[in-house]
Amino acid sequence: MATSQAFLDGVKARRSIHQNTDKEILGQDELITPVSDTIKYSPSAFNSQSSRAIILLGKAHKNYWNEFVPQNLGENQLKAVQKRLPWFAAAQGTVIFFEDKKVIDEYRGGASAFSHLWDDWSNQASGMAQINLWTALEAEGYGVNLQHVAPMAGEGFKPMFNAALKVPSGWIVQAELVFGYPDQKDLKVKTFIEDSERFRVDGA
Ligand SMILES: Cc1cc2nc3c(=O)[nH]c(=O)nc-3n(C[C@H](O)[C@H](O)[C@H](O)COP(=O)(O)O)c2cc1C
Repeated sequence: MATSQAFLDGVKARRSIHQNTDKEILGQDELITPVSDTIKYSPSAFNSQSSRAIILLGKAHKNYWNEFVPQNLGENQLKAVQKRLPWFAAAQGTVIFFEDKKVIDEYRGGASAFSHLWDDWSNQASGMAQINLWTALEAEGYGVNLQHVAPMAGEGFKPMFNAALKVPSGWIVQAELVFGYPDQKDLKVKTFIEDSERFRVDGA
């Protein structure tokens, strides 16, 4: 990259777009590159490479959102999610992010001075992969939103979720990134706190 401008333009343009259709922007083969590259090249503590993903397209994507009834959510949370489930089903695909607990546990044992930090580092590594993919897909023209339906749904939901998706043992679900052809008419204008509250410069 010659300058950071193209990257910053992508960072600034990224939004949460909840209403999308399944009109294709990238075909299945073309989609694999941004998904695999962003996850592969995103950093992880000690290069532990703990992030994993399942890419749902076509029927697998539709089934996920049409048939998975979230359990163990509070009443308000459930209502909010249920309103949005048809929007998610209407989109082109979902990337479900996981962290491989076996990898994290190995590293936790190996670097004992940091052992209490590994769960945080695992979450952070996953978040870095998520934001890189989110930004990359929106740069391709997709509308994208980040969901935590499975991770929020609690223990009762997990066996059903793991069996339906054949999730390898030890993969812990983190988040779902839903993407499609943007079809949102009422995107809220985003507000920002003052930069002076956000950071300061110390050049001394
Ligand atoms: C850690 C994290 C968790 C989030 N979880 C959800 C979620 O479960 N559902 C959702 O619709 N948006 C979720 N979001 C998106 C935020 O609500 C959104 O990024 C924020 O309101 C700013 O709007 P923007 O994405 O349009 O810039 C999450 C964002 C972050 C960083």
